[in-house]
Amino acid sequence: MDSIIVRGNGPLKGQIPIAGAKNACLALMPATLLSEEPLTLTNAPRLSDIRTMTQLLASLGAEVTALQDGKVLATSCHGEIKPVADYDIVRKMRASNLVLGPLLARLGHAVVSLPGGCAIGARPMDIHIDALAALGAEIELKDGYLHANARGGLKGAVHEMRFASVGATENFLMAAVLAKGTSVLKNAAREPEIVDLAKCLRAMGAQIEGEGTSDITIQGVDRLHGATHPVVTDRIELGTYMLAPAICGGEVECLGGRIDLIESFCEKLDAAGISVEQTHTGIKVSRKNGRVRAVDVVTEPFPGFPTDLQAQMMALLCTAEGTSVLEEKIFENRFMHAPELVRMGAKIEVHGGHATVHGVDKLKGARVMATDLRASVSLILAALAAEGETMVSRVYHLDRGYERVEEKLSAVGAKIERVKGD
Ligand code: EPZ
Repeated sequence: MDSIIVRGNGPLKGQIPIAGAKNACLALMPATLLSEEPLTLTNAPRLSDIRTMTQLLASLGAEVTALQDGKVLATSCHGEIKPVADYDIVRKMRASNLVLGPLLARLGHAVVSLPGGCAIGARPMDIHIDALAALGAEIELKDGYLHANARGGLKGAVHEMRFASVGATENFLMAAVLAKGTSVLKNAAREPEIVDLAKCLRAMGAQIEGEGTSDITIQGVDRLHGATHPVVTDRIELGTYMLAPAICGGEVECLGGRIDLIESFCEKLDAAGISVEQTHTGIKVSRKNGRVRAVDVVTEPFPGFPTDLQAQMMALLCTAEGTSVLEEKIFENRFMHAPELVRMGAKIEVHGGHATVHGVDKLKGARVMATDLRASVSLILAALAAEGETMVSRVYHLDRGYERVEEKLSAVGAKIERVKGD
């Protein structure tokens, strides 16, 4: 397993290109199941999760060809479809459950393994099941697999989700676009990745309106045609790299960044004393002056503070002036980066869903271990300005969601390198 070594360093300077959104692409790729015609995705990120989704779609009978060094994904699904999403692939990546809605819409049945829990939580699927059942699907759990059937096809319905689940919203959208009649999804997730999926489905001929709000209306159509769609910018990669100059000092421009994708995060950076400026080519970030100020953070569904940036924000607050309280309201176990940051000298107390961070002057390099995707990158951010050397092990977690992190950070002056493991 590879490790990444970071040596604490001074101010950063330069530009970091931001890739297409992993969490948008993982919802867009299954949309190919909805049509016999090809769906081409441009601005696709080069990540291991995308390769896992490619594997899964291939196992169902769809084709995904990576072009232009992986930045373009040519997908199609015109042959025989095998509607079984196998445990061996699904357990590796929860987003595999996003084939459930499109398979039901296209074929009227699907067998999808339950993903099982992961480091950050139990990750149940009850909200997905209730949403698809509202469209007429009968879903039962057998041997760890969800067996879903919609004899006679899906029918439009009005459904209110108990929680604005991102994945359940995506599954509902991809099922309802081919259902008979009109559907309305209430308390829908409002994330930019939902908006991006709706735009792609509309380009394929779907009739959708209201995406980005809590109420989305879908008018079912008989079939969808092919399309070419650009994957939206990755707001989580964007926020992650904006924290590098915030932690180290200096000035970095994140190319392709848009403040409207992460407004609540930018408000918190501003409160912490970080300058954030939208330019024509991206977002320019620098530390205003003096020390970063402590701020409190509560993670919420969009447009609230993103849970996927909580770990990275904690890395900044470890050396802020004062005490910050972070409340994680989306996942039940998303503070595993805290004990690793404590090994670097941070002062953090975790009680249930709250983490209290008492700012210290400087962190110290140490050997630390990545536990999940966002925790991994928070350790790297913390190491950028720590005294001495930090070695982050198990960086395969990192490669799921960040392409070439050591290259992107080295390009702005960070002392970071990857050490190939066995
Ligand atoms: C998506 O996961 C993202 N993944 C996650 O990003 C992100 O953290 C999450 O949305 C919240 O923004 C992808 O888009 C591939 P949810 P998803 O359904 O759809 C509970 C990353 O780091 N829940 O909105 O699985 C669930 O347990 C990843 O890139 C149910 O209880 O998130 C969680 O506590 C991590 N029952 C909360 O809702 C359900 O049926 C949010 O889940 C579904 C979810």
